[in-house]
Amino acid sequence: MLILAIETSCDETAVALVQDGRTILGHAISSQIKEHKLFGGVVPELASRLHAETVNLLIDRVCTESAVALHQIDAIAVTYGPGLEGALLVGLAAAKALAQLLNKPLIPINHMHGHIYANFLSGPLPLFPCICMVVSGGHTQLLQINDHFSFKLLGQTRDDAAGEAFDKVARVLGLGYPGGPAIETAALSGNPSSFKFPQAIKHEAFDFSFSGIKTAVIYQLNSLKEAGHSIPVCDLAASFQHAVISILIFKAIKACEYTGISNLMLSGGVVANNALRTAFESAARAKKIRLKYPEIRYCTDNAAMIGAAAYFYYRQGPVLETALATPNLSI
Ligand code: KG4
Ligand code: ZN
Repeated sequence: MLILAIETSCDETAVALVQDGRTILGHAISSQIKEHKLFGGVVPELASRLHAETVNLLIDRVCTESAVALHQIDAIAVTYGPGLEGALLVGLAAAKALAQLLNKPLIPINHMHGHIYANFLSGPLPLFPCICMVVSGGHTQLLQINDHFSFKLLGQTRDDAAGEAFDKVARVLGLGYPGGPAIETAALSGNPSSFKFPQAIKHEAFDFSFSGIKTAVIYQLNSLKEAGHSIPVCDLAASFQHAVISILIFKAIKACEYTGISNLMLSGGVVANNALRTAFESAARAKKIRLKYPEIRYCTDNAAMIGAAAYFYYRQGPVLETALATPNLSI
């Protein structure tokens, strides 16, 4: 089954052609980072306008480059939430028009399901039941997945998402937007043991809290400034990153041990972080846990993951009749 997938939930316009949920025939991403960078973060109105200017061009490009004619497409998949309402609407309008024109099914997909199903795009198939940790710019959640689209929420952040904390700390350290990759690069030249940041609510079930770590970095920064010291940006970045990764690993392993499930899956933009990937690898090895995470390019927002989720979702049975942009859609 050949699915054309469209993703416009935030600041990347993305289109992909995915065969049977696993094989990517073509994909393209147009990032808006350059335009939003001027404002230090995503500007929703600007995002919608840029998606509208780009989405049809990307559909054309992906089809042409992969030599796929529109009539060969079996279904259109599109993200309908969560995300920015105006941005979601652009993708939905393009997808609905194409589905009507081709008289093919429209498969509305939850963006977070897309992140999870990025794990189906390469390597061995994930096994169920598994524990899945979703760490993105808007979410930090621990899930138990018993079968396709059977999610049980074990815990989530009580305040900032992990990616949001990366972005905010990068801003206060003057590293700019987007913060995750900037912190990762700065951390390469820093010492992760320079500063000890709190690993909040370590002992409480499976919930997370990241605003405390962020505030601790700000206090540390201010006290260094007041004392007239030069700011060890790389050491602060490395210590912050280390604190976040440690708490993520602690909770994920705890969830595996608590449930007796030894398959662990990671997903979301923060999983593009190499230090995180390496640290999870050694923790999983020590605990004999089977670990799976997507290729770096499919961790951050993309349309291939939406095509993968759509295939497995469609295989399950009836899909939603109508799809409205749903900014606060939950898992
Ligand atoms: O999954 P994603 O692309 O979008 C959402 O659905 O939110 O995640 C974006 C988040 C941002 O907060 C970004 O700073 C973070 O993922 N991120 C990273 C890295 N690359 C992206 N965080 C840490 N290290 C990275 N290399
Ligand atoms: Zn995302």
